[in-house]
Amino acid sequence: MSDRDAVRRAYDEMAETYAAERSQGGRGVEILAGFLDTLPERPRVLDAGCGQGTPVLRRLADAGDPVGLDFSGEQLRLASENVPDAPLVRGDMTKLPFRDDAFDAATGFHSLIHVPLDDHATVVEEFARVLRPGGRVLLTEGVEEWSGENPDWLDSGVEMRWDIAGAEATKDQLDRAGFAVEDEWLVVDELADDEVQKPFIEARLED
Ligand SMILES: C[S@@+](CC[C@H](N)C(=O)[O-])C[C@H]1O[C@@H](n2cnc3c(N)ncnc32)[C@H](O)[C@@H]1O
Repeated sequence: MSDRDAVRRAYDEMAETYAAERSQGGRGVEILAGFLDTLPERPRVLDAGCGQGTPVLRRLADAGDPVGLDFSGEQLRLASENVPDAPLVRGDMTKLPFRDDAFDAATGFHSLIHVPLDDHATVVEEFARVLRPGGRVLLTEGVEEWSGENPDWLDSGVEMRWDIAGAEATKDQLDRAGFAVEDEWLVVDELADDEVQKPFIEARLED
């Protein structure tokens, strides 16, 4: 099984566990609120790797007209219950099924870190393609490059895999795809056992 299929299958198996553990507030939601303030009224936002839809897609749907995309059918099933007013699309972040310039912004909370490393640049290029000129992106990554598995993530009995490129590599990819990085925050990861910080990176597509 490819790493991509392993991640998709793992989220299908442990969607309920992840949803139960996922914080509904905290610093990440504050950063999202600030991001939304910079967007036009009722923005069209792509939530890439939307998962169960809470809290991110829910907030986006309260503020505008988002689309949630994920490759896990089970995650999308939960999202359809949690955010029934948002359109949901089953697809892969490396090949977004949307036309060019379709969105004002894109979010990728805790999703790029599951994409195989060789495909990270493609995801960032796909964001650049589907955003209008001047569009914005808000992504989470890891501080340093790391790839590996946890055989029993969140005591679910399910093995999960991550491919973290690191903040510097991600900012280089954004730069090469035509984005200017405008802000960065370090936020404590509430799902990690140790005190791990995760960078949130905001960037703007050059006009
Ligand atoms: C940690 S969950 C994050 C869910 C939600 N964004 C949140 O903030 O809680 C990661 C999500 O990314 C999705 N995902 C991972 N790789 C993907 C890919 N290549 N294409 C689409 N979805 C992907 C998974 O199915 C999962 O729902």
